[in-house]
Amino acid sequence: MSELTDTAKVPSSIMEISAFDPDARDDPHPRLKALRDSCRVLRDEAVKTWLLTHYDDVRATVNDRTFVRHPINAEEGSMTRMMVDPDDPDGRRSSILFQDDPDHSRNRLPLVKAFYARIKKMEPEIEAMIDQVIDAAPKSGRFDLMEHIAVPLPVMIIAHILGVDETRLDEFRDWSEGVILSLNPLRSPEEAAYMMASGEKLDAYFTELMEARRKDPRDDLISDMVMAQADGGAFEDDELRTNLQALLVGGNLTTTDLIGNGVWLFLTHPEQMQALKADPSLAANAVEEVLRYEAPVQATSRIVSEDREVAGCPMKKSQPVFMSLAAANRDPTKFDAPEAFDITRKRASHVSFGGGAHICIGAPLARIEARRVYQKLFERYPNMSLPDQEIVWRTLPFFRGIERLEVAV
Ligand code: HEM
Repeated sequence: MSELTDTAKVPSSIMEISAFDPDARDDPHPRLKALRDSCRVLRDEAVKTWLLTHYDDVRATVNDRTFVRHPINAEEGSMTRMMVDPDDPDGRRSSILFQDDPDHSRNRLPLVKAFYARIKKMEPEIEAMIDQVIDAAPKSGRFDLMEHIAVPLPVMIIAHILGVDETRLDEFRDWSEGVILSLNPLRSPEEAAYMMASGEKLDAYFTELMEARRKDPRDDLISDMVMAQADGGAFEDDELRTNLQALLVGGNLTTTDLIGNGVWLFLTHPEQMQALKADPSLAANAVEEVLRYEAPVQATSRIVSEDREVAGCPMKKSQPVFMSLAAANRDPTKFDAPEAFDITRKRASHVSFGGGAHICIGAPLARIEARRVYQKLFERYPNMSLPDQEIVWRTLPFFRGIERLEVAV
């Protein structure tokens, strides 16, 4: 045990570090520091879950392929077990996010191959789309950066990569907003109905697109995937549809928050913004530092597959292990001056995309989008500043993002 911090009480439950708690929502870092300094492994009995906060423990656990992921493997009464879909208890319809091998590799490998090739090929188009959206934002005065730039861009870009018809883009955006509500456990009955209806419409649309591309392939990801399937790819249509939806759900809010958190950090750290303006080639490094400093996804998890020791603690089969990525990212044993936001920091090997078999599949895309936005935004708006306002953080547990970010240009 090292010394206790005197700035925050050491949390005794996972909820106290989640966005459900108003203090943690505004700023989770004092509590995460208190926990990291005093408690290598927290046991939260109320939700039957372990929590790791040290960088080395988090890194070793995400990378360790002997843990499992599907919530059906988690013990009854645990937070993870509550995520089992009652209509799909054995996970036959779950996306790669919750699959285990052999299904996980069978589905993930062909998707990764096609997706990475697509992103590489489309990088110039993606950059051009970003430039257009930023060029179309208000010329002067004040505007909400989230509404005009950070929210619309990721959906527009993934729609383009997938091959969504221009004429269906508005509908697609609407359905995407519906399915993204699956991340929000506080959704109202109306939102739940909207989410279900959107899922059905997206399924129908993906079915239609897959059929169309089988007959007439185009230069898009859906064509790549149906061709890979025809070439012997061992995945079914419904698996492909589920994973295409996972790209939508996994990639939108997170990238929106990477853009929003980054712009807010630059505007509140003018010397860093100055450094970026003076040398725009720092943008790629800046993306890594924003990811480290305000991770859009604050935690990930694994499930113990057999009795063993984890982070020095005896753990039992089927116990879930949560990992605070945000705490690991400011671990002083790994990062010098971890509380400083410094875009010139030597490339920071944060854990914001997780690791191992489940490492975020969208990381290369998120990196391209954020890098180009940071470069283009301050080029178009060299005098951007932050008007007085209350920054309201999203109430979504284990995500960190800003609701509205008014900027003056
Ligand atoms: C800043 C943006 C993003 C962040 C911070 C982020 C973060 C994460 C994290 C923490 C995981 C879990 C990794 C683990 O447990 O080891 C994950 C998985 C995943 N992400 Fe992302 N993500 C981002 C963007 C994207 C994008 C753009 C896409 C797709 C277009 C995407 C799709 C996925 C998928 C499909 C998975 C599941 C992978 C698997 O389990 O095999 N993410 N992401």
